[in-house]
Amino acid sequence: MKRTKLAVFASGSGSNYEAIVEACRDGRIEADVVLLVCDKPGAKVLERAKRFGTESFAFNPKDYESREAYETVLVSMLEERGIDYICLAGYMRIVGKVLLERFEQRIVNIHPSLLPSFKGAHAIQDAVDYGVKIFGVTTHFVDETLDGGRIIDQAAIVYEGSDIEELTNLIHNIEHKLYVKTINKLINKKY
Ligand code: GRF
Repeated sequence: MKRTKLAVFASGSGSNYEAIVEACRDGRIEADVVLLVCDKPGAKVLERAKRFGTESFAFNPKDYESREAYETVLVSMLEERGIDYICLAGYMRIVGKVLLERFEQRIVNIHPSLLPSFKGAHAIQDAVDYGVKIFGVTTHFVDETLDGGRIIDQAAIVYEGSDIEELTNLIHNIEHKLYVKTINKLINKKY
């Protein structure tokens, strides 16, 4: 059977990218990360991609006329490489119709809250500010809305402390495991 090809899209640190690559390498995921796409040319994830030998494409959206313009470039790169699924991992950008139409039901995201609660870029802090005690992580299919789309997996954690750094680390560790589970569901078409 042909091995599944993944692209990871990220804008920041890339700990989820690294967790996915490691799972592909040690056999927990029967797939390969073939391309890393990054919309922030200085982001740390690019160093990680270099270290792991993943081809990367960094672009600045401001250099393009529109979202459609850069997504058209991305679609041809993804198709040339035979990418099966796109995993968003801290990609701080709405995905537009050019990518969504070509990769229908093949783009997934991970978000550090129990969606539909606490969408957006500050989910953990927002949940803390709200006084939440049960935190969590969600993976979901991507649509044109912020952190929208049908949920695939969730995992929860009870945290009653006040150390946001500790909480963030706990949530990241859960993310790294949950993404592996979700990608396996995609590969086996069990979602
Ligand atoms: C993660 O918390 C993810 O859920 C969110 O952005 C963060 C990315 O972290 N969408 P990293 O860059 O993978 O370390």
